Parts: sequence; C-alpha cells; structure tokens
Amino acid sequence: MHMERKTLYIRTYGCQMNFHDSERIAGILGTEGYQLTDRPEKADLIIFNTCSIREKAEQKFYSDLGRLRKLKKTNPRLKIGVGGCIAQQEGEKIFKKVPYVNLVLGPQNLDILPELIGTEKGTSLEDRPVHVKTYIPPQRLDRIKAWVTIMYGCDNFCSYCVVPYTRGRERSRPWKDIYREVKELSEAGYKEVTLLGQNVNSFSRNLEEDIDFPDLLYKLSEIDGIERIRFITSHPKDLSRNLIRAMKELQKVCEHIHLPLQSGSDKVLQLMNRGYTYRDYKEKVDFLRAEIPVIAITTDIITGFPRESEKDFEKTVKALKEINYDGIFAFKYSKRPNTSAVKLPDHISDKVKAERLSRVLEIQDEITLKKNKDLIGKEIEVLVEGKSKNYEDKMTGRTRTNKIVNFPGKTDLVGKVINLRIIEARHHSLEGEIL
Ligand code: 5AD
Ligand code: SF4
Repeated sequence: MHMERKTLYIRTYGCQMNFHDSERIAGILGTEGYQLTDRPEKADLIIFNTCSIREKAEQKFYSDLGRLRKLKKTNPRLKIGVGGCIAQQEGEKIFKKVPYVNLVLGPQNLDILPELIGTEKGTSLEDRPVHVKTYIPPQRLDRIKAWVTIMYGCDNFCSYCVVPYTRGRERSRPWKDIYREVKELSEAGYKEVTLLGQNVNSFSRNLEEDIDFPDLLYKLSEIDGIERIRFITSHPKDLSRNLIRAMKELQKVCEHIHLPLQSGSDKVLQLMNRGYTYRDYKEKVDFLRAEIPVIAITTDIITGFPRESEKDFEKTVKALKEINYDGIFAFKYSKRPNTSAVKLPDHISDKVKAERLSRVLEIQDEITLKKNKDLIGKEIEVLVEGKSKNYEDKMTGRTRTNKIVNFPGKTDLVGKVINLRIIEARHHSLEGEIL
C-alpha cells in the first residue's frame, strides 16, 4: 500500500521524560507516514508535548499555541494536538479554551495516537497500566546518547507537585524489556544510556519480579558497547546503600547523582511531604562522597514555599554552602492544580519568592564556578557528543560527572571516549584540549 507523505512538527516543553515521549510520538507517527519537520508552517500535524510543572511552563505553551493559530487559516487541513501533562490535567477543557485544537492526549496514551489523528476532536486520557508493556520504537534525535524509560508516574505526592496527577501511578517496565532496549541501542552504536523515571530508586516496587534498581544497573552493565550509564531522578528518601555500592562497583555507572533537596528546613520539608530531614539527606551525601569521592551532586531547590520564613530560607542557604553542589536548578514555588500545598496558609509574595530565588542562584553560581575552576589543569575523560552549539569551531562532550566540555577537535571524534586537559572554566561549561 502506498502511504501518503505527511509532515509532523513537535514542540516539546519540560523534562527529559517529555523529550523522550516526543521521540516516541515521532516514532509512532513515522509508521503512519509522518516525517518530522522543524518548521511548523510546513506541517500537516502539530503536536505540543506540554509541561505543567510550574505555571510559567503552562503560560508559555498557551502563548505559543496562540501564535500558531494563523496557520490554521492558511492551511485548513492542519491538525493540532496537545499531549503531555497539560493535556492530562485539563482534558476536554482544552477544546473550550482553544477551539482549534483537534486532539488531547495523555502521557499514558501515546500508542493510541494513530487512531486519534483521523478524528476532528479526539481525546485519550485514560489511566492505562498496560502502557508500560507497550514498546513504541522511538525516533531518537541523538546517535550517541539515548534515553530509556524504566518507570512511569509517581506515587510520592510531594505537596507542591502535579506529576502524580498528570503522569499517574508509579509503574515500572519489566526489566527484560529494558534490557532488550539497551541491547538494541548498543547494537545500533549508542554509547550512553540515561535511565528515566520520576523516582528510579523505587524501580520495580510494584512488580512481581525479584529485582530492584541496583540489580538493574548490574544487569545493564553487562551489555557490551554501552560505555556509560546514567539515571534520573533519585528521591533522597529511597537512595539506598545498595545503590551507592552499585555506583561504586560498576565502572559504567557515571559519577553523578541528581538528588533534589528542595529545602534545607525540616519544617518546610515536612510541609512538602518529602519524607526526610536535612540531616538524613546530609548523611546520604556524606556517605556518597566517602564511597565515591569524585561524585558530582546536583539538586533542585524551591524558594518561597508556603510558610517558608526568613529563618527557613536561611537553612536552605546554609545547606547550599555546606553541601557544595556541582550545580542546581532552582525555582520559585508555583501553585499547581490538585496539589495539597495550594491549601496551605501563608503563601509567600512573588517579590519575596523572586528575591530568595536570586539569592540562591547567586550563591550557587559562585560555588559552581569555584568547583569548575578546581578542575583546571586536570585530565578528564569525555564522551564526545558532537559539534558545540555555542562555539562554531569546537566539539563538545561531557565528563562522567555530567559537565560540558568544549574543545578544538575533528568531527570524527563523535562517539569516542577521549581524555582532555581542562584549560578554562566557566559557570556552565569547561574548555579543554586534547592530550
Ligand atoms: N513549584 C516550583 N517548583 C516545582 N517543582 C515541582 N513542582 C513545583 C512547583 N509547584 C520543581 C521541584 C522538582 C523539579 C522537577 O521541579 O524542584 O524537583
Ligand atoms: Fe513530583 Fe515528588 Fe514525584 Fe518528584 S517525587 S515527581 S517532586 S511528587
């Protein structure tokens, strides 16, 4: 049968999980004859893969969507679909808000997309446990590094977070499916995999299989060709000694952990329903560094959570100075639908949230720069990823600790693990030279 050639434009917002879902959307629509384009005005179908983690991400989507409205006039056949977390959160309400949207698709329903694209107004938003067993071959954008989902959803219900409502219950993929996928990636020449889940440490908690996350790392480490294994995200309350041991023993598992602290105040942590105190957290960090001295630790911080006093905030500042993170992502607290923090008393003004955010960023900038400068003169292993986006004549790669290094070199180095000497340090990247 001859398939009609059609073009697809995808706009993605938010986390790696979403970017990987977009690769799966491109994969499944590829089998329906759709080819990706990076120009929305050329597309027959536009999919917005949305994020609702903070209000700002949501506003960005609605304004981008509004801007594409005129394309519907010039191309009456154009269909617009909304996927991701806003789709799940808003459901059919999106049709009321934005009448020219044709499809609304939740993150657990990507495999239903081919059935939906033929309809004028289609929705697919059900909770579908079976989706974790449905493999959708992704159309991956990178040739060296690949994302592999190991679990979907989240059961932690941190009081600020919308994810348990948009991505549903925590469900792990069968480990053999994950193994097969990584094996295929190695055969296709991939060098690095990043295992994705909202809380990778509780992998397989709800599975019949007798396997946990550290076991999975041991199994995946056996696969030849894959040289680096990373994972995100780890919840501090579930970070086990077994995992730390696995990271230490397994050569392929990179020396980096993203361990969201959120706040340095126990009062705030409790209000956030995080399940640990600052002391618990710090003990884990100390143990990580004792076992794996070179490990890089990054984190997420929220400023101006409801009831966060000046004193509470100072505890976060103190934590940043004490822990000396390699990098942080910091955000102003944002009210999210359905979440319990919305109902807390004493919300903080935007002005104070913003002041606290800039203070946190300023402090961390100094720490990051100092840490990066400490690397000057050192020899470091880098996996070469491609041409640098910021420096035309340079190549770029990452250290095992997930730091970006730019260096003069040829494109035939892509996919190779090489040693570089660090010669300069910036806030968000390093400069190197080939040894
Ligand atoms: N407001 C601000 N930041 C948030 N995050 C999650 N929900 C919110 C919110 N409502 C941040 C947390 C989380 C990261 C992915 O996003 O720090 O770790
Ligand atoms: Fe949200 Fe907490 Fe789950 Fe992370 S662990 S996705 S912050 S509920």
